[in-house]
Amino acid sequence: MLENIPAKEPERQYYFIEKARELVQERKETLGRPLSYHVITFGCQMNARDSEKLRGILESVGYEEAPEDRADFVIYNTCTVRENANTRLYGRLGQQKPRKKKNPHMMIALCGCMMQEPQVVEKLKKSYSFVDIIFGTHNIYKFAELLVTRLTSERMVIDIWKDTDKIVEDLPNQRKYPFKSGINIMFGCNNFCSYCIVPYVRGRERSRQPEAILREIRRMAADGVTEIMLLGQNVNSYGKTLEHPISFARLLTMIEEIEGIRRIRFMTSHPKDLSDELIQVMAGSSKICRHLHLPVQSGSSRILQKMNRRYTKEQYLELAGKIRAAIPDISLTTDIIVGFPGETEEDFQETLDVVRKVRYDSAFTFLYSKRTGTPAAVMEDQVPEEVAKDRFNRLLQEVQSIAAQTCAVHEGTTQEVLVEAVSEHDPGMVTGRLSNNLLVHFPGGEELIGQYVDVSLDQCKGFYYLGEMK
Ligand code: 5AD
Ligand code: SF4
Repeated sequence: MLENIPAKEPERQYYFIEKARELVQERKETLGRPLSYHVITFGCQMNARDSEKLRGILESVGYEEAPEDRADFVIYNTCTVRENANTRLYGRLGQQKPRKKKNPHMMIALCGCMMQEPQVVEKLKKSYSFVDIIFGTHNIYKFAELLVTRLTSERMVIDIWKDTDKIVEDLPNQRKYPFKSGINIMFGCNNFCSYCIVPYVRGRERSRQPEAILREIRRMAADGVTEIMLLGQNVNSYGKTLEHPISFARLLTMIEEIEGIRRIRFMTSHPKDLSDELIQVMAGSSKICRHLHLPVQSGSSRILQKMNRRYTKEQYLELAGKIRAAIPDISLTTDIIVGFPGETEEDFQETLDVVRKVRYDSAFTFLYSKRTGTPAAVMEDQVPEEVAKDRFNRLLQEVQSIAAQTCAVHEGTTQEVLVEAVSEHDPGMVTGRLSNNLLVHFPGGEELIGQYVDVSLDQCKGFYYLGEMK
């Protein structure tokens, strides 16, 4: 039945998409009803983008979206950056087991970062043998092929690659929003921060060719996308390993020229690689948003060294100062870990000091989570949970009170927002996003979604605004 399979990508996947469509059609005819899917995404923006690719393939082969508890095909795109993400997945899987017993046509697939850990796959094989397809982060583009393998056999399909240097372009994807989209510019990470599992599960850093990125963005713009978010674990080192190296700042100036794109965002910046060239390009740009996510992780130079972050507290503060001087209206946000092995109260005070000096618009705060296989997992002096939790609470309080003050700075101004959705709390209101990433809720209807409108920021509510359209 499977003949003349193309060896080249993406042609090979288009062949399997066609085959999967035939097989799904047969199933639908046998059952006498449509077939549905649901993709559940854990973790970061990278995973969110990967899920759009999975959705693109599922829609092209004839599945329709449905809620998780009713879908015929449930896919979990997993995260493993902290332990609790893993625990949550096992909980969700447990809930699916009885449904799957009742409905023999149901399928469950697992993919994403957690699947790159051999001990996870072992546990799944042993205790969750009702799962149909397991694949990892490097071969997500092969989803259609794996689906065909599963539909033509009755066994669990497992395909995990340890690493890859391959980037497959031009596959379908289904965007969550018609007017904005994430776009991968690079994959993997070479930094090996000592607490982080990402370099082990996402592999070595590799950048996409600038032409491929520009082509994809032009296509998106033609399709109605006006805001893009460039995605990479460390966008500041984009292009360094390409055959013809190019800087991230240069890529931004090329993207800026694309007509139809009005807003450019990017994530995540590593402080050690953030160049003066980038600051200059941002300062001179009318499209690059006034927001920079600049994870500090800790304010103690001693801990930063143990984290292998390759900057000191002083260097970070100097960088933040330089950015603020060049782009005064920029919003700075960050990630902070508390309770890293060996962290003392003194180290923690250094972190609080950075928070007070930089005055972040918001910060994601995390309790250190031990990830097996990382250097930090075997470091001495792991911090007791109560101590870490106490620091976490104190940090959160500081971060929140400063964020409320920095957010209030814009009160009374009128700014352009991109309207994203009808407000979750009030159907008479819509929610829009400012260039600096803050949200504002204001009276308006569905017809405004995807539009840019001027809104007065009348009242600051801590980390969002209430306003009115002008
Ligand atoms: N424990 C706690 N937080 C972590 N992060 C990454 N690894 C860990 C870990 N082991 C946080 C970092 C990173 C963010 C995405 O997740 O702050 O910037
Ligand atoms: Fe993890 Fe550090 Fe790479 Fe970020 S830069 S993904 S924290 S190793």
